[in-house]
Amino acid sequence: MFNVGSKLAKRVTRIEESPIRKMMMAGSKVPGAISLAQGIPDSRTPQYIRDGIIEMLKEDSKIGKYTLGPGLPELRKLVADSISKKGGFPVDPDKNVCITAGAIEALAITISSIVEEGDEVILFDPGYPPYIPLIKFAGGKPVLVPLQADNAWKIDLDKLRSAVTPKTKVLIVCNPSNPTGMVMGKEELTAIAELAEKHGFFVIADLTYEFLVYDEGTIPSLLEFPSISDRLIICYSFSKEFSMTGWRAGYLFGPEKVVEQALKVHDDFLLCAPTPSQYAALIALTKKPGPDPDGLHAELVEKRNLTCERLDRLSDLFSYTKPKGAYYVLARYKKPNIGSQEFAMRLLNEAKVIVVPGIGCGSQGEGHVRFSYGASKEKLNEAFDRIEEWTKTL
Ligand SMILES: Cc1ncc(COP(=O)(O)O)c(C=O)c1O
Repeated sequence: MFNVGSKLAKRVTRIEESPIRKMMMAGSKVPGAISLAQGIPDSRTPQYIRDGIIEMLKEDSKIGKYTLGPGLPELRKLVADSISKKGGFPVDPDKNVCITAGAIEALAITISSIVEEGDEVILFDPGYPPYIPLIKFAGGKPVLVPLQADNAWKIDLDKLRSAVTPKTKVLIVCNPSNPTGMVMGKEELTAIAELAEKHGFFVIADLTYEFLVYDEGTIPSLLEFPSISDRLIICYSFSKEFSMTGWRAGYLFGPEKVVEQALKVHDDFLLCAPTPSQYAALIALTKKPGPDPDGLHAELVEKRNLTCERLDRLSDLFSYTKPKGAYYVLARYKKPNIGSQEFAMRLLNEAKVIVVPGIGCGSQGEGHVRFSYGASKEKLNEAFDRIEEWTKTL
């Protein structure tokens, strides 16, 4: 008998299944369940992008072919110019930029290019779930710095400093944060930049939600710290800013030597990011008809407010910190004896609402569930109506 299980690669079998995927799979078996689990904006990809691609599909013979491995030169140039403008230093589109299949590919090829067996990678807990498996896959050790649950999920800078060791290879910053909605300010970013400079490690900035900050207008960027421009890596996603989750487009910016290695991995796994999606990203950046096409941003502001109002009505069950960015609320439930996995499963089976158990985002997430408010306002209201009804049965 051929024992398939014993012959699989341990570097993959030791990785746990994504808590988001697990909930989505469980949810798909519950008819009529509403998902507030995955971070998918309900709105369609804006009209100008769809129209632009339709035209290209009709007219352009290049759209169905591979591009150069690092991506369309004109898209890389746009990315390079925008980073150079923000950072005030030269960026070479041929050496510092690679167009990827979403931010997740940018993270994956970067982490596999810089993290080795035994390297430590500092992360904040709770954090975006896929960081940990990507680090483990590369043989690295995730070092989790707990965020302050009782202080708006702020970073405890002393804890951050004491997490640094000679083995620290990289620190991952997600600003604004998925899952907490926290935004790092100047003080935190200064501390991070100082540590990276002093101890000689990379900083990966996951800027998937940089476009979505609610009350503070814009947030400071790690690009403003020239002392770390030689070790700063940016992973960006077109998914959320342009409601393009299914297209799979993003980019990696980093030092030439990192991008050179990451490109090898990108080439071996993917050859190039999907060409129609690269053109869609190009259209997204170059043909934008106004500051908020199709009102995506305005709608997310409304949905944040709606979600908070609905959670306020459930204050006997939930407490939470109002998100300052991104589109998630990590709410604490006042049922101390139930683990978040069980709580999420009960919400699914009894209220037909899919959420992510906080434990999936790290041990500090235990006792919480993550609500994504990418869903439509109707779905959000229906989901919270169901939760309100459900609370009466508790
Ligand atoms: C923080 C964060 N980083 C990266 C990603 C992946 O984005 P993409 O769709 O561009 O791969 C997500 C998706 O939800 C995310 O929330």
